[in-house]
Amino acid sequence: MFMRAETLSSRLREHTRDEHAAARRSSFIEGLASGRLPFAAYAELAAQHWFIYESLELAASAMSTDPVARHFVFPELFRIPALEADLRYLYGARWQSRVTALPSTSTYCTRIRYAAVDQDTGYVAHHCTRYLGDLAGGQWLGRAIVAAYGLRRQGYRFFVFEGVDPPLFRARYRDRLNAVRWTRPEQDAFLAEVSAAFRLNIDMLAELGEHWT
Ligand code: HEM
Repeated sequence: MFMRAETLSSRLREHTRDEHAAARRSSFIEGLASGRLPFAAYAELAAQHWFIYESLELAASAMSTDPVARHFVFPELFRIPALEADLRYLYGARWQSRVTALPSTSTYCTRIRYAAVDQDTGYVAHHCTRYLGDLAGGQWLGRAIVAAYGLRRQGYRFFVFEGVDPPLFRARYRDRLNAVRWTRPEQDAFLAEVSAAFRLNIDMLAELGEHWT
């Protein structure tokens, strides 16, 4: 009987089902989406994102000539310019001296520096966990935050990917994942690092939640 080959994107979805469900249960995210938390909590999330994306986008530069990872370097997704504009709005011109990384965020950044530079599996794992999330649930969260805090034109550029159609981009991204010629052990290493990345996000959201309860 003919069996359809299992694709890497379907393995990814299956592998992250439980972790994704745990991430979705974050009370901090729910508190922002409903506007229950003070606006400063949203600013603190944006600040944590800045540290994470700085590490991630430095890894992208370092991996831009890697034969596999270079297919997952998308300058149109880079979030640092958007985050810096948001942080200027949220914290003022001297934002850089007003933001600090939480311990869980520092742990996350250290992990990116260790796992996403040099190893294609680690880089793609950290890349897809953040950007596919931003292009999926992140779009819903952005709309909810804009409505909940009455944002007008500024402070939410992080959620807006100029010139990118999120569902189409996600579909093309999955095609790229499915085209990667990794051995089964390499695929397993990729999936293990995706789990680590999810866990780091969940821990960071939990720490933010503790801060703002
Ligand atoms: C309340 C919070 C969240 C909601 C409502 C949400 C919702 C969604 C939705 C609707 C999808 C699309 C699934 C599909 O394409 O069929 C998705 C995909 C995804 N989300 Fe989330 N999400 C949330 C939190 C997170 C978090 C915290 C992360 C990790 C940083 C994350 C990472 C991902 C990833 C990596 C995908 C792509 C999975 C794939 O295409 O295989 N999500 N999310």
